This record gives sequence, structure tokens and C-alpha cells, in this order.
Amino acid sequence: MADEATPFDRLGGEGAVRALVDRFYDLMDLEPAFSGLRALHPATLEGSRDKLFWYLCGWLGGPNHYIQRFGHPMLRARHLPYAIGSTERDQWMACMTQALRECNVDAGLAQGLRQAFQGTADWMRNRAG
Ligand code: HEM
Repeated sequence: MADEATPFDRLGGEGAVRALVDRFYDLMDLEPAFSGLRALHPATLEGSRDKLFWYLCGWLGGPNHYIQRFGHPMLRARHLPYAIGSTERDQWMACMTQALRECNVDAGLAQGLRQAFQGTADWMRNRAG
């Protein structure tokens, strides 16, 4: 139905998406368990933060900031320069799961988001292992 709240609305809008993305990248910087994932990223994460924030706003049913700036996401193609196997996928998911928990995202919403992220993260794999 047209008046049904989107995941973007349920999460709390742009401020909440930004807080989630910021926590995700803070954890990537801080937690030794995510050092392999961190090593794939540039020295400074400012650009990564902006891009994931813009992307997730649209992915969650909010404003299409990413597409307005960059066109079609072609997410798998954009990840091909980075070697992503199960280890990287699992670190991404663990980092996001911890960020969802620490941002106190509603448990039901977080479960649905984790399922959706899992599908996207798995699809991003481009090498065995
Ligand atoms: C599966 C494990 C993943 C790994 C190892 C990974 C790694 C990376 C890396 C290294 C970058 C480049 C960062 C930069 O240019 O600053 C990137 C970009 C990006 N990632 Fe991921 N990523 C993963 C999964 C995901 C998922 C599940 C999503 C979305 C739900 C996502 C969304 C993005 C977006 C939107 C960008 C920016 C693309 C661009 O415009 O260049 N990634 N990712």
C-alpha cells in the first residue's frame, strides 16, 4: 500500500541511516575482527561513508541520492576490483550486524535488514574462499 512505512521511515530517516553507516565504518576501523575488510578500503573512509549512506537511503526506500549522483549502482561490477570471498562477506555482515545492534535498531526491522543485506553481500562475492 502506498501509505505503508518504508524501512527508511521505520529506521528513522536520513539521520538514522547516517548514524548506522558511521557506526559501521567506525567499527571497521576499531575492531581487529574486521581488519581484513578494512584493508580493502581506502586509507580514509570519508568517501566510503558518503557513498554507502547515499546508497542505503535509496535501497531502504528513501531518497535516491546515490542514483542522482552516480546513475545505476551496478554494485557487483563496482566491487570487482576488490577480492571478495566468504571471509570478506562474513566480516561485512558481522560489522553491519554489530552496527545495527549498537544503534538500537528495532529487533524485527534489524532481522529483516540483515536478511536483505545477506543476499546482497553474498551476491558480491567474486572469488572462491
Ligand atoms: C560482501 C562484502 C563487501 C565488501 C568486502 C565490500 C567492500 C567495498 C569496498 C572496498 C568499497 C570501495 C570503497 C570506496 O571506494 O571508498 C566498496 C564500495 C561500496 N560498497 Fe561495498 N563491500 C561489500 C558489501 C557491500 C554491500 C552488501 C553493500 C550494500 C548493501 C555495499 C555497498 C557499497 C557501495 C554503495 C559502495 C560504493 C560504490 C561506488 O560508488 O564506488 N557493499 N565496498
